[in-house]
Amino acid sequence: MAKHPVCPWWIGYLLASPVRKFLQDPVHILSPYVRAGMTVLEPGPGVGFFTLEIARLVGPSGRVVAVDVQPQMIEGLKRRARKAGLFDRIDARVAHDESMNLDDLDRAIDFTFAFAVVHETPSTDNFFAEASRAMKRGAALLLAEPSGHVGETEFNEQLAAAAAHDLKVANRISLKRCHSALLQKL
Ligand SMILES: C[S@@+](CC[C@H](N)C(=O)[O-])C[C@H]1O[C@@H](n2cnc3c(N)ncnc32)[C@H](O)[C@@H]1O
Repeated sequence: MAKHPVCPWWIGYLLASPVRKFLQDPVHILSPYVRAGMTVLEPGPGVGFFTLEIARLVGPSGRVVAVDVQPQMIEGLKRRARKAGLFDRIDARVAHDESMNLDDLDRAIDFTFAFAVVHETPSTDNFFAEASRAMKRGAALLLAEPSGHVGETEFNEQLAAAAAHDLKVANRISLKRCHSALLQKL
């Protein structure tokens, strides 16, 4: 699979611009899947463009586990969460290069949101192995990859890697400027 560089931390702030909502509206993208009380895993949140909306949707009884490999992204996310009054619902973690640090979450996750992250990870196979292990049976994973960086062939390779870890395509969904699919944990 093609390797892609990790997005520089300062681009995280550009990705969190409110203008992006006109292209990729977090409410529109997330509200079909995220319910109050859920535990949601978000690998590669950056500074939290989607995370804050996930935290609103899970409500005070829910939790978002946001895991990023760059400490600067996690610090930016925490700052923005505090300002929005959502800090208590967000478990923000720094991942290692080779592991997302999810050992305490076996079969705990109701929904995983992986937006524009899988192509940056060093091993697609490890990524889906870890995500799958953390997810409950029947839980969904929304996979979206930017079509400007990731070709159809690479996206299909990602789907094959996911399937090898019991994450099967339930639906191909349509999101602007993305290849995207909803996967379900068998
Ligand atoms: C292109 S940004 C997307 C950020 C966010 N998902 C969004 O759409 O606004 C990719 C993010 O994934 C993170 N990332 C890259 N490799 C990772 C890994 N192995 N584990 C966790 N996060 C990773 C990067 O640090 C960056 O914050």
